[in-house]
Amino acid sequence: MGPPALCPGTFDPVTHGHLDIVRRASRCFDSVVVAVLENPGKEPLFSVEERMEMLREAVAEIDRVEVASFSGLLVDFARERGSRVVVKGLRAVTDFEVELQMAQMNTRLGGVETFLVPTSPQWSFLSSSLIKEVVRFGGDVSDLVPKAVAVRLEAKLEPGSPPVRKE
Ligand code: PNS
Repeated sequence: MGPPALCPGTFDPVTHGHLDIVRRASRCFDSVVVAVLENPGKEPLFSVEERMEMLREAVAEIDRVEVASFSGLLVDFARERGSRVVVKGLRAVTDFEVELQMAQMNTRLGGVETFLVPTSPQWSFLSSSLIKEVVRFGGDVSDLVPKAVAVRLEAKLEPGSPPVRKE
């Protein structure tokens, strides 16, 4: 079996958009490691343990997918795992600028190549921050995230809780 492809992100929390990319990556590479950034500067709503737990449940039925966390540079984590491949979703041209910059930096820093996969159209409007905002104001996200994630979001984000940060 070859080295894994990495699907990195904050996953605060995981959405059906993320899962679509992980599932499709798993069909193209021998295995996939979903790499959860432990300490992003943006104070996640869920701890890294909670984010990993939700991901593990969500990817349980996708073959050859592992969930791990990392801190620091993605290229260092890639080196630890013997991987040179990152797979990320592209929702719209607005994602492209930042993804291009990160991809080029990661190639420069560690010879890591990034494969940008167009998000499936039914998820192209999704983001974790938008999901949190909708739940905070009492909206229904049950068809946009796994059921267990919707339950946890409702428990954390009852109407009236402090504003969620933008991603
Ligand atoms: O879900 P996100 O917020 O789009 O994920 C961004 C992530 C975690 C992939 C990116 O911020 C990252 O790789 N951070 C680790 C630090 C790093 O390697 N920075 C340099 C990359 S150019």
